[in-house]
Amino acid sequence: MKNAPKIAFVTGFPIKQSKSPLIHGFWLDNLKIDGTYRAVELTEDGFSKFIAQLKSGDANFEGGNVTMPFKEAAFQLVDERDAIAEKIGAVNTIYRKEGKLCGTNTDAYGFAANLDDLVPQWRPKPEIFSKAVVFGAGGASRAILYALIEAGFSEIALYNRTLSRAEKLADEFGDTITAYKMDDVGEGLKEANLFVNTSSLGMHDTPVPDLNFASMADGAIATDIVYHPLKTKFLENAEKQGIAIADGFGMLLHQAVPGFEHWFGVRPEVTKTLRDTILNG
Ligand code: ATR
Repeated sequence: MKNAPKIAFVTGFPIKQSKSPLIHGFWLDNLKIDGTYRAVELTEDGFSKFIAQLKSGDANFEGGNVTMPFKEAAFQLVDERDAIAEKIGAVNTIYRKEGKLCGTNTDAYGFAANLDDLVPQWRPKPEIFSKAVVFGAGGASRAILYALIEAGFSEIALYNRTLSRAEKLADEFGDTITAYKMDDVGEGLKEANLFVNTSSLGMHDTPVPDLNFASMADGAIATDIVYHPLKTKFLENAEKQGIAIADGFGMLLHQAVPGFEHWFGVRPEVTKTLRDTILNG
């Protein structure tokens, strides 16, 4: 008997802006997999009911993605969370394992895999001092801090408008991280190897602080998790000052890889054709 097609979801509120159906649809088509990936728009209340249906088997999904504003609720509601989800405090990917509903977070993986693609030299060399500057200490910053610690940065300077939020993350993530107030970021860039914007500044071309990227170390890199526009003002300024840049769009593509593999059993690839298709989609 033919197996029933596998189905995965993405849920959030709103959800119609999500690129995930395009990404997973591209892979399903290209890999000729008999499966479906569909957007499910839910309210807060609807979300917990949906998770209960997944647990009871009433909703026939292999699993799916969770986006704003349900990532923290998903963290609370799944049966099991892996170590990454625990540290990041949010779940963006749900899958089934041995009858349980498991939650993970693939944002740190997506961030690192995007840089591996675009600027592979971003990874620090063991034994050589390396410094990363992270701008923004909101929800999105947690996955980035996780990835930078995993990559082995010697020092991570975390800058935020609200200092207490940066201090809280520094306490939680350990000694590698030091918290500073936003106005001191210029000082922090001196001799740094990597700059990451995790704040919402620069989104839709909003103004950003004018930073002296030229004071960064030789071979330094700047990246931004904002990808509207693709080349944000942070990246534009950094590039003008001779710094290598990596846009954040690939993070969105790469973070989708582990989920697809969980649900459909094949590890898909992030290719230039995928990137061009989703950018134009
Ligand atoms: P996300 O989950 O996307 O990170 P968030 O938790 O609201 O969203 O965090 C947004 C980040 O952008 C925070 O670091 C925020 O700084 P505060 O913690 O001080 O709010 C930062 N941010 C947003 N608007 C800003 C602005 N106008 N100037 C400086 N930082 C800003």
